[in-house]
Amino acid sequence: MPQTPDTHNNFALHPTVFVILGITGDLASRKLLPALLALYSKKLLPQRFAIIGFSRRTFSREEFREFIRERINIRPGQFKEEDIKHFLDHMSYEQGLFDDPTAYAQLAQKIATIDKGWGQCSNKLFHLSVPPTLYEGILSHISRSGLNVPCSDEVGWTRILIEKPFGNDIHAARQLDKLLGKLFKEEQIFRIDHYLAKETLQNIVSFRFSNSMFEPIWQHEFIDKVHIKLYEKNSVEGRGTFYDSLGALRDVGQNHMLQMLALIAMNRPKSFSATDIRAERARVLKSLVGITRRTLSERVVRSQYIGYLNEAGVKPGSKTETFVRIETYINVPRWKKVPFYLETGKAMSESKAEIDIYFKNEEGNEQNILTFRIQPDEGIKIRFFVKTPGQGFEVEPRTLKFKYADTSLSEHISNDYERLIRDAFIGDQTLFASTDEIMASWEYVTPILEHWSELPLTTYPKGITEIE
Ligand code: BG6
Repeated sequence: MPQTPDTHNNFALHPTVFVILGITGDLASRKLLPALLALYSKKLLPQRFAIIGFSRRTFSREEFREFIRERINIRPGQFKEEDIKHFLDHMSYEQGLFDDPTAYAQLAQKIATIDKGWGQCSNKLFHLSVPPTLYEGILSHISRSGLNVPCSDEVGWTRILIEKPFGNDIHAARQLDKLLGKLFKEEQIFRIDHYLAKETLQNIVSFRFSNSMFEPIWQHEFIDKVHIKLYEKNSVEGRGTFYDSLGALRDVGQNHMLQMLALIAMNRPKSFSATDIRAERARVLKSLVGITRRTLSERVVRSQYIGYLNEAGVKPGSKTETFVRIETYINVPRWKKVPFYLETGKAMSESKAEIDIYFKNEEGNEQNILTFRIQPDEGIKIRFFVKTPGQGFEVEPRTLKFKYADTSLSEHISNDYERLIRDAFIGDQTLFASTDEIMASWEYVTPILEHWSELPLTTYPKGITEIE
């Protein structure tokens, strides 16, 4: 069913409670709270809103305020002091254990008190800022306390925001999905893959389908290969325990990398509605050619940076990969025999996400390359050839570049989490992953994981530019 997002005005009038389960965690202070503060300072939050932080720790009201102030990841001077202060006035804390039913009853009570003060049943958003192992328990408790039930069909919706990784493999993902389906309706579930909300990823769709010169050549007869890279300079320092249970393939391969591939490879959707766009992305993911035990060592490289084993939280002798490269193919006529290389690593020489489309060239090795630069230095460039002045017809490569930062457009690039929170408020699921997409990506990744240990784990020094 096509989405019918609330209009901005409607949404601004509805009082809303945003509950962050796991407020003391890294994600809340790094991504969620800065985005909420930014929306607040731009006056893009509903007029009446409350943020409730829920966690195990004990805080007094003042201690909680101080904790948030210290931890929130903002630059000095980024926001007016007055805005920060008023934003914190909208926040309160609820202490509780994630597996304790009484804690959820207290949470429900707290929300009921807020609603009473507002004289209206509020909209409610629950964000699970916790490790995925806690999802099932928390979701069941939310449901048992009745918090998953909207006040009515018209007002007081309840929505749930879930972060990737959605499950640990296809089996866990199916189980979680079943539970979600039992407790919530599909329009209540917002599965976050924050890469989808990056402006430059959405630009892939706009660019492809608005520039008619590219669509006819967007296929195997003209495209030689596609290279999708997500390099990060950071190591896993500070996130060792979480990361060690995942590794690069689960952390970003199953989600961010495959979503980038889907946007490059998908067909033009019937319309630009959430349903049609998500269906096209899913179609690509369902057509990925599976990696078998036989093709594993030819198509997949896994590696770990030297020093990873000394990171806090990493298990002794851990075989978790911090780098992965996969050569993948899509089983549709358009992409016949075109390799898509997915490559991601931590502790690389620089942080960058980009996609290179290499065009075939009969004349020799030099190729036209179209590059989508996702971040940083967001933009697009094309490598082409011009005649070297002088006798003969020698050519040399030159680059046509478009950089968002060189134009006034850059002022309007919104932060990914700001966009996701706004869309969740509005009820627009376009930039959230559908069940179909998630299941299809796990279907692809799980067989690789099942034979992981048969693949040699190489090592690389920190700060490397690329891995052969
Ligand atoms: C997250 C991963 O989903 O994406 C992190 O868990 C990774 O390991 C991050 O660092 C990258 O996101 P961004 O927006 O900083 O490129």
